[in-house]
Amino acid sequence: MSQNLWSQVDRYFADQLHPEDAALAAVLASCEANHLPPISVAPNQGRLLQLLALACGARRILEVGTLAGYSTICMARALPAGGKLISLEIDPRHAGIALENVGRAGLADKVEIRLGRALDLLPGLAGEGPFDLVFIDADKTSNPEYFAWAVKLSRPGTIIVIDNVVREGKVIDAHSKDQSVQGVRRLTAAVAAEKRVRATTLQTVGSKGYDGLIIAMVLPS
Ligand code: SAH
Ligand code: DHB
Ligand code: MG
Repeated sequence: MSQNLWSQVDRYFADQLHPEDAALAAVLASCEANHLPPISVAPNQGRLLQLLALACGARRILEVGTLAGYSTICMARALPAGGKLISLEIDPRHAGIALENVGRAGLADKVEIRLGRALDLLPGLAGEGPFDLVFIDADKTSNPEYFAWAVKLSRPGTIIVIDNVVREGKVIDAHSKDQSVQGVRRLTAAVAAEKRVRATTLQTVGSKGYDGLIIAMVLPS
């Protein structure tokens, strides 16, 4: 089994089920041109986020970690007229590039990118929730706090997705010195302890290597 095969299989399905479109291709091109890291969600992961948004009839979506707006665009495309996605981003350069990409995708009226440390911005979102879908994909060390905020800003039925929780399997090393790994481990403990949600993890292989997602749903009260 190899990265090359995983990428080819991703491409085999993506070419048929969600062929690359101009707006998403432009996002990836903007990442390359501006030397942003190649860590946008993969095309099939973006499509999964979009399907989850559609499945829960999302009208309000919250994202933590915008980068160039790839996942932002995937999710915002599921919003009905009047729907809104708020994405939090600490890096002004990323936010500027994302804003341009969102505009090019024709989603400027549905997407708001807020600049700042997510932990500083989240308390100010109380009046704008509850959110129907939350995607957590920023610095991994703050994952437990982001999850706590996601639950606070949720309603019964809200779906919470957290990216990059497997980290090539390093997640199982309790003694890892990698702060991202420890962030995921504390997150997992927090999800497990949160009685208001039911959750599972999906390991993924594909064009982005070996990683995974936690998917949680806030239960009816
Ligand atoms: N969700 C994007 C990828 C996000 S990459 C996609 O799949 O297309 C992670 C992003 O989180 C980076 O742009 C980084 O600048 C941002 N970030 C890191 N720490 C942050 C923080 N404390 N608050 C807000 N954003 C943060
Ligand atoms: C990293 C961050 C991501 O959001 C991602 O999807 C992949 C890798 C990282 O910081 O290594
Ligand atoms: Mg990610």
